[in-house]
Amino acid sequence: MILRCADANDIDRIAEMEKVCFPEDPWSRDMVAAEFSGLNPARYYAAEEGGEIVAYAGIWVIPPEGYITNVAVLPECRRKGIASAVLQKMIEDSLAEGVTDITLEVRVSNVPAIALYKTFGFEEAGVRPGYYQDGEDALIMWRHD
Ligand SMILES: CC(C)(COP(=O)(O)OP(=O)(O)OC[C@H]1O[C@@H](n2cnc3c(N)ncnc32)[C@H](O)[C@@H]1OP(=O)(O)O)[C@@H](O)C(=O)NCCC(=O)NCCS
Repeated sequence: MILRCADANDIDRIAEMEKVCFPEDPWSRDMVAAEFSGLNPARYYAAEEGGEIVAYAGIWVIPPEGYITNVAVLPECRRKGIASAVLQKMIEDSLAEGVTDITLEVRVSNVPAIALYKTFGFEEAGVRPGYYQDGEDALIMWRHD
């Protein structure tokens, strides 16, 4: 596996993967492109296997806070530690930039993601009722370093 920073050349692949990884509410290509516009403090990471991106994750770095926007792994590549590797790198880099508190939102039904974040020290900190378009609540999680 190759772990690297993602850039605007990866927009099409990430937009394709959004449809596979978030079939209920994928980001549109424009939404993905906005993350790479340079108008926000986003950092994106990609994991490649066989020359193709199989996972990506993003964080907005606003020291001392970080906001994880997305973490996704292709279904056939899950449970091999790929999300963990990407998150590890993303968090290490953020800490080096002065981030001490990282937050994210996740669907309350998303057992795999909640379990993943807990292995990285994220704790449940509240709920945003009806946060998602289909009305599902979001669990708010924080990690404090
Ligand atoms: C959540 C997701 C990113 C996890 O990716 P992954 O590469 O499979 O995760 P890892 O292999 O690094 O898993 C690390 C740990 O997280 C937990 N975990 C991951 N998937 C899990 C599952 N399906 N059930 C229970 N725990 C799970 C486990 O503790 C796991 O460690 P273990 O395999 O040693 O038991 C992946 O399932 C995914 O892309 N889901 C769809 C997109 C999504 O929901 N993203 C999160 C949005 S907030």
